[in-house]
Amino acid sequence: MSAVVANPMAPDPWRIRRIRRETPDTSTIELEPTTEDSALSFAAGQFNMLYVFGVGEVPISISGDPSRGKALVHTVRAVGNVTRVMCALKHQDVLGVRGPFGSHWPLQEARGLDVVMVAGGLGLAPLRPAIYQMLSQRKQYGQVTLLYGVRAPADLLYRHELERWCARTDIDVQVTVDRSDDAWRGNVGVVPRLIPTAQFDPLDTVALVCGPEIMMHFTLLELQKRGLTPEQIFLSLERNMKCALGFCGHCQYVPFFECKDGPVFSYAQVQRWFGKREL
Ligand SMILES: Cc1cc2nc3c(=O)[nH]c(=O)nc-3n(C[C@H](O)[C@H](O)[C@H](O)COP(=O)(O)OP(=O)(O)OC[C@H]3O[C@@H](n4cnc5c(N)ncnc54)[C@H](O)[C@@H]3O)c2cc1C
Ligand code: FES
Repeated sequence: MSAVVANPMAPDPWRIRRIRRETPDTSTIELEPTTEDSALSFAAGQFNMLYVFGVGEVPISISGDPSRGKALVHTVRAVGNVTRVMCALKHQDVLGVRGPFGSHWPLQEARGLDVVMVAGGLGLAPLRPAIYQMLSQRKQYGQVTLLYGVRAPADLLYRHELERWCARTDIDVQVTVDRSDDAWRGNVGVVPRLIPTAQFDPLDTVALVCGPEIMMHFTLLELQKRGLTPEQIFLSLERNMKCALGFCGHCQYVPFFECKDGPVFSYAQVQRWFGKREL
């Protein structure tokens, strides 16, 4: 008798429990399994392939708490065909889910060390599971710092949660905007400018970075000016994907397949190619 092998290309149906508008073009979608026994365990930094039936499938980072496998959370910006339809879905609609895929933030290796996270815009989404995990195991880490930059105050994600994190004494949260408005009382300027004064010991620090490529470029320069080596810095990179299984080659990033070797890489792994347009 032959064993039944699950088809890795077949999505599982998950139902939308809640969809919350974060900004005019970005929504956070909370999914629950359609069957009692389904759950999905993932590591902070991994992504799922989300399928809008009849429209298409896209890679989206998991932005929820890794300790809650029955509530899958993703934060999606409506930029094109699939993500626009996804952000317009309603409570009780069903999405297809394949995953989790890819590498994760090195939270195990970071135990005992300071951790500085640098997020630009939507880059906070794949870092949020790392924040949940570190806060739930807070004694295992040294100084934990989040530096978060967005273009304008209206672009801030997870506002209530940010306020709660800012009020805590065991995580240092610094938020900055490129352009302020009349109500804004915080930092103004791009997020790499927060690095020179951030509290961490460069000899014993791991940096986790996610955001637009230009932001990551300047963040890398500032972190290295503070004395971090490429081995201490981890980046989450984005490439177009199809299979997410290492078969199709769609996500190739020089010697790597981003769907299985990434999306999280140490800067030491990708330094030779990072930011090169012709790849
Ligand atoms: C590992 C990984 C994790 C990701 N995590 C998230 C996430 O948490 N939330 C999220 O909203 N998106 C995330 N993305 C990006 C997301 O997959 C794309 O935005 C999506 O595939 C676009 O599909 P579409 O059909 O809506 O747009 P398309 O119709 O394919 O494209 C429409 C327009 O958007 C542009 N575009 C396409 N992809 C991107 C992109 N990656 N970034 C910016 N512009 C793009 C295209 O150039 C085009 O101009 C992630 C991508 C990867 C590879
Ligand atoms: S998406 Fe097919 S090999 Fe990575």
